[in-house]
Amino acid sequence: MDPGRGRWLAQFLRDQNIRRCLEVGILHGSGTCWIAGAIAHIPGAKVWALDLPSSAQLDPNAESLLAKLGLSVGGCGDGSLVHICRDVAGASWTLVRMLRWRPRWRLDFAYIDADHTLESTLLYWYLAGQAIRPGGWILFDDIGNPDYPALDYAWTHVIKETPGWDGRGAMSRGLWRLIQKRADAPWFTDA
Ligand SMILES: C[S@@+](CC[C@H](N)C(=O)[O-])C[C@H]1O[C@@H](n2cnc3c(N)ncnc32)[C@H](O)[C@@H]1O
Repeated sequence: MDPGRGRWLAQFLRDQNIRRCLEVGILHGSGTCWIAGAIAHIPGAKVWALDLPSSAQLDPNAESLLAKLGLSVGGCGDGSLVHICRDVAGASWTLVRMLRWRPRWRLDFAYIDADHTLESTLLYWYLAGQAIRPGGWILFDDIGNPDYPALDYAWTHVIKETPGWDGRGAMSRGLWRLIQKRADAPWFTDA
């Protein structure tokens, strides 16, 4: 994530009082650092960051970048700021497990930026959307990027049209698209 985007996102998270975040797709962890850094001062703040095991072998990786910034990395419920979950089965499986084993999992914000196929993007959208509270947000990257026409289809014909989400109020910034869960939407993880 370049610094221009990072600064914009950090300000957005602060303006929206975001405290509990998910990032799907870590790579080197620069996005993770921007998100975690923006909310680090808030008691109970947490970032769940998901990727494949291969991302741990990158240099730098998320752990090393977060450590340089003094941002703590640890387990799911141990008070650390960032929990990194890497699973060979991919982020959709991690999300299924999270929703299954932590049925009251709450998120204010999710950033979906992993493998850009139609199927996986819609799966991340559906699964992360279960945990997003009413009034919370999901951010997608690469919508409108000609390299990923399937993402444009997913955004225009599925995501923006999903009941319970404010498709009309969706925001754009370059290839980023942000959509908010309506305040009156059912909160599925409360079921
Ligand atoms: C565009 S990069 C993420 C960039 C990062 N969000 C940032 O802003 O700095 C995409 C990442 O998605 C990961 N990825 C690809 N397929 C995945 C899957 N099935 N599950 C989880 N992560 C996946 C890749 O390993 C890669 O690290």
